[in-house]
Amino acid sequence: MESLISLVNKLQRACTALGDHGEESALPTLWDSLPAIAVVGGQSSGKSSVLESIVGKDFLPRGSGIVTRRPLVLQLHKIDGEREYAEFMHLPRKRFTDFALVRKEISDETDRETGRSKQISPVPIHLSIYSPNVVNLTLVDLPGLTKVAVEGQPDSIVADIENMVRSYIEKPNCIILAISPANQDLATSDAIKISREVDPKGERTFGVLTKIDLMDKGTDAVDILEGKSYRLQYPWIGVVNRSQADINKNVDMIAARRRERDYFASTPEYKHLAHRMGSEHLGKVLSKHLEQVIKSRIPGIQSLISKTVAELEGELSRLGKPIAADAGGKLYAIMEICRIFDQIYKEHLDGVRPGGEKV
Ligand code: GDP
Ligand code: NA
Ligand code: MG
Repeated sequence: MESLISLVNKLQRACTALGDHGEESALPTLWDSLPAIAVVGGQSSGKSSVLESIVGKDFLPRGSGIVTRRPLVLQLHKIDGEREYAEFMHLPRKRFTDFALVRKEISDETDRETGRSKQISPVPIHLSIYSPNVVNLTLVDLPGLTKVAVEGQPDSIVADIENMVRSYIEKPNCIILAISPANQDLATSDAIKISREVDPKGERTFGVLTKIDLMDKGTDAVDILEGKSYRLQYPWIGVVNRSQADINKNVDMIAARRRERDYFASTPEYKHLAHRMGSEHLGKVLSKHLEQVIKSRIPGIQSLISKTVAELEGELSRLGKPIAADAGGKLYAIMEICRIFDQIYKEHLDGVRPGGEKV
């Protein structure tokens, strides 16, 4: 799985290189057809916490109230070697090795765009994390949906956030993590409402139930987790993230995961579900789903590439002279893409040809 995602990531990079050289072509479509994962839900439902635990690193601003005020587009890159680092698109060539500083830069950069207010902005922050401990993925953290404007926010904020969130999750290549807190009535879940709107059949929506540890005494989430309260295409996954007290005490991710595992394994109500609960399980489910999505997209991507190659050939013959420097760069990127595709077919597709028919 990791190797397939890794190839797709190389492909993305080659495409970016190609785009850098470039005029209009099929490439933006190619880029858009690769999957990303976005979290949606109400304010403080635990979106940033869930993303952090998928990544396995502490680096996102979290807390009560409206903390995430701009979209964060996070690209994870798996690298060899040991040193992990992060880079922001707005700070090229600056390598962050201290992830506490990454968190600080996210909130500073949010303030730069919006002022130190409770305003939001649709302008995304782009962050890349390079690490031997991640799979190559694009994740998007989004501001939380709200019902009312608070002090310092314009009345339009409710609709503004909804539109911003929708613009990400309506793309067919977006995998939606719909985050609902267990200590609120599921019927009021903003996550379920908006994801059903863009993905009525639930083909790319995963229901995640947070804050199971915060439910009222005498109540439990068994009906929801078993799919009896609200049925989704994929089974619900319950998680227990770190509480605000844990964050204040700097409880680390590893300790938090261990506690989460123990929680599900040792709570009598959830014991029978423990094998399909928790952040680690969520990570595995997402990897598996992505692998399927990528495989199903490959024939389409292949035809886009052929189209791009044809465009390039046309361009070269129009020029009718030795290849110019930038065309050389394009050609190189195309060759790189073809090589990667060749590898994908050989390693992962068991003789399935573009178009899907078996050889
Ligand atoms: P977001 O606004 O949706 O991004 O939510 P955050 O991830 O910032 O979390 C909001 C608050 O809820 C933080 O104080 C978290 O510590 C807390 N929180 C999130 N998930 C859980 C959970 O599963 N259990 C507990 N006890 N607290 C959680
Ligand atoms: Na919050
Ligand atoms: Mg957040």
